[in-house]
Amino acid sequence: MKKKALEITRRTFLGSSTLAATAGLTGVGLNLSEASADVISKIESGTLLAPTYKPVAGLDVTSVAVHVGANSDYSSIPVFQGTTNSGQYTADSNPTIDSVETKISRLEGAEAAVATACGMAAISQTLLAFLKPGSRVVAHQNIYSRTQRLLEEPLKDLGIRFEQVDMTDLKQLKKALEKKTTIVYFEIHSNPAMDVVDVRAASAMAREAGAMTIVDNTFLTPYLIQPLALGVDIVVHSATKYMMGHGNGLAGIVCGSRSLVDKVGVMRILIGGVLSPVNASLLNQGLKTLPMRMERHCSNAMEVATFLESHSKVKKVHYPGLASDPGHEVAKNQMKGFGGMLGFEMHKPPQLNSFVKLIRPVWSLGDVATLMGHYSAPNPKRRIPANYSRMSIGIEDPGDIIGDLKQALDRS
Ligand SMILES: Cc1ncc(COP(=O)(O)O)c(C=O)c1O
Repeated sequence: MKKKALEITRRTFLGSSTLAATAGLTGVGLNLSEASADVISKIESGTLLAPTYKPVAGLDVTSVAVHVGANSDYSSIPVFQGTTNSGQYTADSNPTIDSVETKISRLEGAEAAVATACGMAAISQTLLAFLKPGSRVVAHQNIYSRTQRLLEEPLKDLGIRFEQVDMTDLKQLKKALEKKTTIVYFEIHSNPAMDVVDVRAASAMAREAGAMTIVDNTFLTPYLIQPLALGVDIVVHSATKYMMGHGNGLAGIVCGSRSLVDKVGVMRILIGGVLSPVNASLLNQGLKTLPMRMERHCSNAMEVATFLESHSKVKKVHYPGLASDPGHEVAKNQMKGFGGMLGFEMHKPPQLNSFVKLIRPVWSLGDVATLMGHYSAPNPKRRIPANYSRMSIGIEDPGDIIGDLKQALDRS
């Protein structure tokens, strides 16, 4: 990252919420109107930043990640653990949680954000805010298994109709939208098949059909793509993953316009999937290094994907950064970096778990450590092939990751 002198006066960091001010957190948030471009020198960020990113108050994304939501009186955001703070009940508003909402909303280019207990709390509370009996959801054929189950089981029982189509083929989405639809839902790089959905085209189609688009941006983060700038109405995240970054806490976030996010905020109060202040503080800390981590996740994933593609035991690699990937062209048109997640098919059932030494054989993702999981059976309905493994590439030395993978592949 190119570095220039950054002159930010402490005055720049003024309270963004009344509560923050009354709680004595006069530094929480970045007051955009106060921060003028002439006191802030813009730093050019890394090469993979979302093409739509617009400097917040003239600040590069790296500076936003570090400073927005910070309090200049503290090196780390204080944990307001009280159930009430300055007269506010924590389920409604809490200075530690508010500060992380401010930071993430700026990173996503959103008017507002509401933080939740985990990713599933973000997804379920968002869906419940906008669906009612008779509503219809159209989703991509491959989405996170628990989101799929939520739509297939409890929400279906409440009278919500659910249909899945292959959204990599936009003709299928168009056809599905001939019937009245409330929500179009997808993950930009799907979990775990790594399908790529054209965000601009899919959300434009949904809008034309009178449907709202909700996108799960967990795999990519706003550093790589800002779905709201491409026409999406609401972005949800499992902030447990890349945003938290270190496998040390559950969190979720919902971003969008103030009016839509407020509806989810009401649902958060009624259902109670509120982020804990301790996890909000950990999330705030993780976010400070998100830009640098995402750059490294992307470059490492590209190296690992290239290695896997050359290995004789590997049948096919699913990584949208590879020219051979069916989603490459779409991915290339909507982002510069392709994320840290990849999948690969082997010719035989993988036996890698017992051989890896550095790579951790666990089901999570977005950690600084490289993680790997294997699917025991193919699932054509969810577009999961036979002998399929998913990897979340960490920020370790790429040679060390590849070395471990190679010895495990060679022995398996
Ligand atoms: C794409 C995606 N969305 C949502 C979730 C749910 O997140 P959480 O575990 O924080 O509830 C996950 C979890 O793995 C995920 O991969």
